[in-house]
Amino acid sequence: MASELNIQICIDVLDSAEELNQQERDAMLLAQETANDAYAPYSNFLVGAALVLEDDTMFKGSNQENAAYPSGLCAERTALFAMSAYYPNKKIKLIAVTARRRSEQHFLPAMPCGACRQVMAEYEHKQEEPIPVLLQGPEGKFYRLRSVSDLLPFQFNREHL
Ligand code: THU
Repeated sequence: MASELNIQICIDVLDSAEELNQQERDAMLLAQETANDAYAPYSNFLVGAALVLEDDTMFKGSNQENAAYPSGLCAERTALFAMSAYYPNKKIKLIAVTARRRSEQHFLPAMPCGACRQVMAEYEHKQEEPIPVLLQGPEGKFYRLRSVSDLLPFQFNREHL
């Protein structure tokens, strides 16, 4: 009989912003503000991402859409690629992501797409230290993952090349 490989992922569920630490709160606030800057005339789905770097500076990104739809880019990758271009040697301490519809003020669960998870995993491997991920959850809650690996278990990365 085949054996089973069970993969466990760990997510902290925080009921409100009060349960976040100061840095997480600041990063989530920056992500929420940054969602306002999204260039999303086609989906009207505004996504904001904030990165906290090893020296506590923050970096932000929002989704950038295009009339040729696949040419656009998600907020997470916009932030990560820009950060890596500006600061190729800085490590990332936290990624925070949120989203909302343009017509509504409340924030929605922000679940990074598969391609963004793959890109996050790349930088996690590059820096050889886990990157915690803080996601806007439903009803004012937040999800905290201790590592990108928890967002992308069973992942393909440089170790498989
Ligand atoms: N989007 C992101 O920015 N991040 C994700 O992880 C999921 C989707 C953007 C892409 C597009 O501009 C809009 O949300 C609708 O898919």
